[in-house]
Amino acid sequence: MLRSLGSFLCLWALRLTEAPAGSGAAARGLDVASYRERVRAMFYHAYEHYLESAFPYDELRPLTCDGQDTWGSFSLTLIDALDTLLILGNVSEFQRVVNVLQEGVDFDIDVNASVFETNIRVVGGLLSAHLLSKKAGVAVEAGWPCSGPLLRMAEEAARKLLPAFQTPTGMPYGTVNLLHGVNPGETPVTCTAGIGTFIVEFATLSHLTGDPVFEDVARKALKALWKNRSDIGLVNVALFPLSQSLIGDVDNAMRTFLNYYTVWKQFGGLPEFYNIPQGYTVDKREGYPLRPELIESAMYLYRATRDPTLLELGRDAVESIEKISKVDCGFATIKDLRDHRLDNRMESFFLAETVKYLYLLFDPDNFIHNDGSVFDVVITPYGECVLNAGGYVFNTEAHPIDPAALHCCRKRKEEQWEVEDLMREFYSLKKNKKFPLKRTSGHGEGESAKDPEDAPSEKSGEKRNTKKSTHSLLSCPSQSFNSKLAVLGQVFLDNT
Ligand SMILES: *[C@@H]1O[C@H](CO)[C@@H](O)[C@H](O)[C@H]1NC(C)=O
Ligand SMILES: *[C@@H]1O[C@H](CO)[C@@H](O)[C@H](O)[C@H]1NC(C)=O
Ligand SMILES: *[C@@H]1O[C@H](CO)[C@@H](O)[C@H](O)[C@H]1NC(C)=O
Repeated sequence: MLRSLGSFLCLWALRLTEAPAGSGAAARGLDVASYRERVRAMFYHAYEHYLESAFPYDELRPLTCDGQDTWGSFSLTLIDALDTLLILGNVSEFQRVVNVLQEGVDFDIDVNASVFETNIRVVGGLLSAHLLSKKAGVAVEAGWPCSGPLLRMAEEAARKLLPAFQTPTGMPYGTVNLLHGVNPGETPVTCTAGIGTFIVEFATLSHLTGDPVFEDVARKALKALWKNRSDIGLVNVALFPLSQSLIGDVDNAMRTFLNYYTVWKQFGGLPEFYNIPQGYTVDKREGYPLRPELIESAMYLYRATRDPTLLELGRDAVESIEKISKVDCGFATIKDLRDHRLDNRMESFFLAETVKYLYLLFDPDNFIHNDGSVFDVVITPYGECVLNAGGYVFNTEAHPIDPAALHCCRKRKEEQWEVEDLMREFYSLKKNKKFPLKRTSGHGEGESAKDPEDAPSEKSGEKRNTKKSTHSLLSCPSQSFNSKLAVLGQVFLDNT
């Protein structure tokens, strides 16, 4: 059993051979423990102000010290931050939040929600927390992890997204109304990026609940995406150092990383776009909403290389986020990196991803880094299974999913290997893409919903739809794994 678990983890976990700890960093005098504590303080500064001033709204508005709904009406920041609480070791707050969410979150609401964002943030966040809840000391019900309140919530949220997959190709619509389904006049998604990532949450959901519908629709979308791969290669897939390190290309990943780090040092953050010949930001894309990608890359690369430069990026990130974006009530999106003007928004991914990766970078002994030497054995209705052995798969929103859980709730083992094949196809698909340094159009595509100046919710939804129809493939209606890696912080040559 452990052997098969081992090979399973190797394949799923996308982990690198880890370098020995203890080299470099100390020599350069970087106090890892003190940065770890600063990141912890950063988390609580943002989290407690969210609770005090913004909950139950989706997000904190750090400049006005109040809240707003942005991607729905889910208390999104609370869902998104839940597993970070456990990574920081706060089990009592984790337990409290699990109860709060069960009582307070309702998906039967008349809200137009992004299918992609709802999946990665809400379904992914709930699934991750469900699988971690025993570790967090929650008194789990009999049958866990094949049942449980957070799993039921994840399932309910995912069911609300299913109508979006009723398209001729199986590629989902971008927006769905949680109460009424797909809105009349909704155009199918033309942006293919991100569709492949549904398999992570939806296959997990099917394997835990036993209902194949989620995996089926995600699989169909993935197959359609696979057929369409030539288009994707042209448009959406770039190699951020993260994806390079995930496929084991550490040297190139390190080189790419250092290029981005140079840009970071110039601005104290990573502008959404950057123009190499001019060595400067691109008009209207000079913001930095505290995105995680560079820090995420540093965390993975550090696990692989122990190169102290990676800790230095972490240090610089802590210093500049505190210096530029910290306000009395939280951390604010940087509207313009040139003059460090702020915007009244704190995206939920700041606590779900940015702070989490920073903490993991500075916390070498975190349970997330478990190499399989410790694990839990649980008894399920289907027999014994091993959990928490490490090898966590981070979804697009940095929610760790324990891949071993896929083995817990089904009798027919062979089905699992099929999902694994699909995941392998998906990652080799990414691996085969070139790094497109050129973009022909630098403005407006892709990230309209994340523009700091965008009003949240329905307004930006309409805006997205308009752009979608005019820009076709280049205008993703929502942030996606690949476009996140490609569009955000994309370094490109401006040949216009
Ligand atoms: C856990 O989080 C709560 C809420 O932010 C906080 O009051 C408490 O001090 C935290 N506990 C620990 C051990 O950090
Ligand atoms: C959702 O979008 C549809 C179509 O654009 C619109 O008619 C409807 O009013 C929107 N619903 C909400 C709650 O904003
Ligand atoms: C890929 O998708 C686009 C947009 O949906 C479509 O126009 C195109 O024909 C597809 N290409 C292939 C090879 O299926």
